[in-house]
Amino acid sequence: MSSLRVYLADAAATQQLGQRLANVVGPGCIALSGELGAGKTELARAMIHGLGYQGRVKSPTYTMVEPYETPRLLISHWDLYRIAANDELQALGIREQSPNTLMLVEWPERASDALPPVDLSIRIEHQGDGRSVVLTPGTSTGEQWVAGLPGSTEMPLGPRPPDANKTR
Ligand SMILES: Nc1ncnc2c1ncn2[C@@H]1O[C@H](COP(=O)(O)OP(=O)(O)OP(=O)(O)O)[C@@H](O)[C@H]1O
Ligand SMILES: [Mg+2]
Repeated sequence: MSSLRVYLADAAATQQLGQRLANVVGPGCIALSGELGAGKTELARAMIHGLGYQGRVKSPTYTMVEPYETPRLLISHWDLYRIAANDELQALGIREQSPNTLMLVEWPERASDALPPVDLSIRIEHQGDGRSVVLTPGTSTGEQWVAGLPGSTEMPLGPRPPDANKTR
């Protein structure tokens, strides 16, 4: 299955995508990439709330990992931006997640080979005033998640994207 691209016109559209993802995901690993301020935490937060966690979801910028318990799943939300060495990840237990855990990983490229297989890679980029998002399954599990998104061949989440060639 190929990648799915969606345009998110504003933060509300990002939250809506997070909600929709929450309805289809299960245990596994989702990599969230994109530059500082792209919206990785915003999307992760919407997924965590969509999965039923009602408390505050803060960015794991300093703690590197924040755990959540939802009715259906355990979640570990990672931000590896400040990770210094793979040893640090092992110490934080990145390889010792319970089988019922969904890992949401910001800055996955900093983990090199410490991550389990990534089921779904989500890349967020600035486009105009909004964001362009590409979801790429990495496993058959990830393919099932993407296939389960409503109208996954065309998922309108806001007005049409601005012309990508237009200068800002
Ligand atoms: N589709 C969108 N269109 C416009 N703004 C958005 C959109 N989605 C999110 N934002 C805004 O972009 C910012 C994203 O911040 P966020 O902390 O989620 O970024 P991040 O990718 O996690 O950055 P970092 O790498 O620092 O952790 C927020 O201010 C949010 O309101
Ligand atoms: Mg973040």
